[in-house]
Amino acid sequence: MSIRIHPSILAADFANFERELQRIGTADAAHVDIMDAHFVPNLTFGIPMVERLAEVSPIPLDAHLMIDDPDRWAADYARAGAASVTFHLEAAADPIATARSIRAAGARAGVALKPGTAADTVLAELAEFDLILVMTVEPGFGGQSFMADTMPKLRQVATAVAEHGSSTLIQVDGGITTETIVEAAAHGADTFVAGSSVFRSSDPAEAIAELRAVAERSVRSL
Ligand code: DX5
Ligand code: ZN
Repeated sequence: MSIRIHPSILAADFANFERELQRIGTADAAHVDIMDAHFVPNLTFGIPMVERLAEVSPIPLDAHLMIDDPDRWAADYARAGAASVTFHLEAAADPIATARSIRAAGARAGVALKPGTAADTVLAELAEFDLILVMTVEPGFGGQSFMADTMPKLRQVATAVAEHGSSTLIQVDGGITTETIVEAAAHGADTFVAGSSVFRSSDPAEAIAELRAVAERSVRSL
């Protein structure tokens, strides 16, 4: 299993995105948190921002939509240039149609689960999703503490993906550090979003390399 590290630009310098993307050029993708001040209390970026980031980014963009009505908007984020688009199950009226619209627009389709949301409905339709995001904080803000009580659900998702023999990525997001990544990797995650722990470091490339090394060791030690 290969480990992917996706730094979240929510923790970057908002006045210097082009430079900040260069600082994480060794990562596998840049995680872009889209918040609408409705699905979550916070407000960030929209489609024109993703279009411009895609033009200047040295690595693919991983869009995480924390918005109402993703059924309407998700495919537009794929057309804007995101390589993967993940929407929240709690916000979608028709998750399967929305996932299909993302794929039809040329991106990987992801579905996200808040800490209190069960995985069963997603696991019943695994073939529809290229990525399952198990949130390890309540979505809305960076810099929160990792919620270890989401680990049983992470293991349930990882077990179902392994049994299905599918290549679905298993992503965690929220409070990921060189300490918490051990537990997340050991419970089956392969794709790790990290905002504060990468961008608050004096050397983001080194922070990415450390996260990757610790995750690789934690998987092997299973
Ligand atoms: C939270 C966002 C996260 C956030 C993670 O709602 O989805 O992607 O940027 O930030 P850290 O790594 O600081 O918890
Ligand atoms: Zn996110």
